[in-house]
Amino acid sequence: MARNKPTVALTFAFHPEVIREKLAPRAGVVLARTPAALRTADAAICMLWDKIDARWLARAPKLRALGTYSVGTNHIDLDACARRGVRVANTPGVLSRATAECAAALLLAAARRVPEGHELCRTGRWTGWRPDQLLGLELLGRRAVLVGRGRIGEETARIFRGLGLKVEWITRRDSEKQLRAKLARAQVLSLHVPLEESTRHWLDRARLACLPPDAIVINTSRGPVIDERALTEALRKRRIFSAGLDVYEREPEIPSALRRLSNVVLLPHLGSATAETRRAMAEQVIQGVLDLLDDKRPPNEVKIGT
Ligand code: DGY
Repeated sequence: MARNKPTVALTFAFHPEVIREKLAPRAGVVLARTPAALRTADAAICMLWDKIDARWLARAPKLRALGTYSVGTNHIDLDACARRGVRVANTPGVLSRATAECAAALLLAAARRVPEGHELCRTGRWTGWRPDQLLGLELLGRRAVLVGRGRIGEETARIFRGLGLKVEWITRRDSEKQLRAKLARAQVLSLHVPLEESTRHWLDRARLACLPPDAIVINTSRGPVIDERALTEALRKRRIFSAGLDVYEREPEIPSALRRLSNVVLLPHLGSATAETRRAMAEQVIQGVLDLLDDKRPPNEVKIGT
């Protein structure tokens, strides 16, 4: 490692070619596999499965900058970072389109019963066309209620409108009464909020009960935003039509009660999983960390305490 270069510890060896092109010329790169690697790190780049808390930060006494290869920051104790003077960068914007497309894929699959049809064909149990086979719901003219009007929510709204859906928003300004009235007309409910204390179990049993029987619930945000047990029960009792889920309360665990249901589409947290987006995330987080190390203010710095 060249002298005077800062040391950046990676908790996972992501995108080796981007690391080689963008990070290695500017920093000594180490894998944070040993306590020694973290002890000498000026910066680190973590993954969404890392729990970054005061104890983790204590193992990295020289750390000034932290990047996360994700837009979500719920795995990072931001206050602990602020107390330690560690600035944080994430990957906003670059994954909005990919995540919105994932929400649309889940919606189409959940509305048109794609997994059930796929299973019928894949298992060789399809016996031929029938007028009443696997009838789904048409999206044209349906009302979609989106929760969270950030970049991903806005991008999802654009695609949903293109599919012929009418879009309405639930925002923090809505009273509980207004919110429940919107839920009552939500034929599609799509969640796009970050996970924080105020959004944990945002969609709970009581709010689920407000949805109409033809509702489709889509979640590409974070699993704990929904009370998974309550949703499973609503689906099992056919109180709503179906759900499309990319995220779960205790990933990678997906409860068998949920996996057994035919009216749910399940994806393994693939929201941002396109080749273009994942590369853009790698470039963005690296640039953010390098800027923070240079005492600049990168656009992807996470604002703490606002
Ligand atoms: C994120 O970035 O927070 C997604 O969940 C994974 O890309």
